Amino acid sequence: MKMVIGNWKMNGNIDLLHSIVPTLLHEGLGSAVALCLPYPYLSAAHSLLKAARSQIKLGAQNVSEHPFGGYTGEISAAMLKEFGCRLVLVGHPERRSLFGETREVTAGKLHAALGAGLYPVYCVGETLAQREGGLARQAMVDELALLAGVPTDRYAVAYEPSWAIGGGVTATSADINDMHLFIKDVLGPGTRVLYGGSVKSHNAGQVLGLDSVDGVLVGNAALSASEFLSICHTAN
Ligand code: G3P
Repeated sequence: MKMVIGNWKMNGNIDLLHSIVPTLLHEGLGSAVALCLPYPYLSAAHSLLKAARSQIKLGAQNVSEHPFGGYTGEISAAMLKEFGCRLVLVGHPERRSLFGETREVTAGKLHAALGAGLYPVYCVGETLAQREGGLARQAMVDELALLAGVPTDRYAVAYEPSWAIGGGVTATSADINDMHLFIKDVLGPGTRVLYGGSVKSHNAGQVLGLDSVDGVLVGNAALSASEFLSICHTAN
């Protein structure tokens, strides 16, 4: 069963939550599905999923590298855990490119998530310039080094080439397969590697059909119940 994670980013509203979650519950979708929601919706989603005794996992899109303290606006791993989060995206390309998240900060977030017993989905991926310069694999090596020594059942890696995010251009099957096999080669064959970057209902079968793909991380399509359901059914 391949994992499908919906990343709402800074989108959606409580009406969408009350529409999509019951639809997912009605379809009997379980632990292979996760919703990574904006912070304000975590509590309501946790209540809906808990009331339904659902196995659908709740996740956050970011976490502080600090355990507590004077960090205005930040959310700690312990707080996410308290509100029913099971997983958290770490190092998403948008955090790195738009918010200047450094490798050191990402490392701190990774360890904070692991330390709190959350399941980090660690996002890595090259820029278009690195891809065109034949440096895609090299760009990955430093990032993957942060996971050295961590048991592969404690995390997942999401291969998210930044040039494929949001623009409707999905990486080719050859590129996806090459990078996923490279990641598994570096971290170990048991590493769970998901693909993210313009996954839609029309291309989910092609992406999920690759043996090297253990799941997908879905952005825009996660905001449509029909699109997201279609992708979940393709994965399961
Ligand atoms: O985290 C997944 C996201 O970055 C992909 O976004 O809209 O290209 O599916 P999208």
